[in-house]
Amino acid sequence: METRRIVDILRNAQPDESVTIQGWVRTKRALKEFSFMEVNDGSFMANLQVVLNPDLPDYENILKQLNTGASVEVSGILAPSPGKGQRIELKASKVKVYGDANPETYPLQKKRHSFEFLRTIGHLRSRTNTLGAVFRVRNACAHAIHQFFQERGFLWVHTPIITANDCEGAGELFCVTNLNLKEIPQTEAGEIDYSQDFFGRKAYLTVSGQLQAEVMAMTFRDVYTFGPTFRAENSNTSRHLAEFWMVEPEMAFCDLSGDMDLAEEFLKYIFKSVLEKCPEDMEFFNKRIDDSVLATADNIINNEFERVTYTEAIALLEKAKRKFEYPVSWGLDLQSEHERYLAEELFKKPVIVTDYPVEIKAFYMRLNEDEKTVRAMDVLAPKIGEIIGGSQREERLDILEQRLQAQGMNPEELWWYLDLRRYGTVPHAGFGLGFERLVQFMTGMGNIRDVIPFPRAPLSAEF
Ligand code: 4AD
Ligand code: MG
Repeated sequence: METRRIVDILRNAQPDESVTIQGWVRTKRALKEFSFMEVNDGSFMANLQVVLNPDLPDYENILKQLNTGASVEVSGILAPSPGKGQRIELKASKVKVYGDANPETYPLQKKRHSFEFLRTIGHLRSRTNTLGAVFRVRNACAHAIHQFFQERGFLWVHTPIITANDCEGAGELFCVTNLNLKEIPQTEAGEIDYSQDFFGRKAYLTVSGQLQAEVMAMTFRDVYTFGPTFRAENSNTSRHLAEFWMVEPEMAFCDLSGDMDLAEEFLKYIFKSVLEKCPEDMEFFNKRIDDSVLATADNIINNEFERVTYTEAIALLEKAKRKFEYPVSWGLDLQSEHERYLAEELFKKPVIVTDYPVEIKAFYMRLNEDEKTVRAMDVLAPKIGEIIGGSQREERLDILEQRLQAQGMNPEELWWYLDLRRYGTVPHAGFGLGFERLVQFMTGMGNIRDVIPFPRAPLSAEF
């Protein structure tokens, strides 16, 4: 018999259907006349309750092996459940134990474990209710992202993970090398001779696929890239990872206002779609993790985002009746406490801040007429702060060259990027959404390390 997923059984199946399921035991209760166990196969928040009667072949022996964590296959007939909490249960006629799990050593016991502890058992933590729900919601977000762009005719392009450029110019790059670290070749000037390295030049893990996405946008108009990106920033915060996923749409013939409209429509779409697809998981987060999760989702879907310029934001922060740890003044970057004040306290919804000072933003952002600000936009979310960073790109060759030079970068290294401004340049814009920050925002999870299966952060890469 074909096995069925538990989600399908709990949502759709009727009494008297014969089914086979496979999964892992969450709990077992042995009573005198019969026993119960709860089985989970990862497809759904709830477990399927299985009733085990003593007339089951090999009952006593099997019962001994049905400990938390054991893997099983159960066949039987569905019946209405007399107990509360479930509509339907499975009366087992055959149980096969694939692998047992020693209750003396299995680390996931019935009690609640802290997220810190669960991070030390990264290979088992997805078997808990919370992490299970997180990874299902994460999957639904990824699906919604592709669906959103595909419905709108965007081409999914695959940008490289190994690159020779620092897109953000922030120097937070991981170097990729296969030089012998015990005998590093040197140039006559005493520097590392990367010409002898694998790529014949210095190479890195990418911090963003944007520059290559711009290349593809100059052919296909609307494209997006969605993949892992890497930053060697040594920030041990609840919102930074060394390896995170980024979604980056790039649109030719588009300006900053079109970019903002897309970002807003995009976030609304994802929230709506996840609420439709994972209502039980979302209710779980609202009940157990953060009781504002559903209200936040509703707020995102039904309200327009606030839009202010950086200059206006600074004025609002200066007027704020509270003390900030970091100073506020025109020209300084917004810190996460400032971002959160704007989104969480002042506007109580996402805020798009535009037109930041040229000195604090990357070289590729389009210079405004005032020559002091650039056509940047950051979407700030309550509790998270910056969730999206984007801009209209500088499409004018001469100004772009000046910006590169001003930031101490070598225009020759980006000759191909500059060529896009030589051959058929057009106004274009795009943004990057931090995928884990989105999942955090959606689920209310406090630490970004708990919304990615295998977090990479300073001093942490075990699993
Ligand atoms: O603002 P960022 O640095 O923008 C870019 O990389 C642009 N090239 C994107 C583009 O226009 N195509 O990063 C984009 C987003 C941030 O808003 C944040 O959500 C997330 O990526 N992010 C991180 N997420 C987790 N850990 C980190 N260390 C992150 N750094 C940035
Ligand atoms: Mg940014």
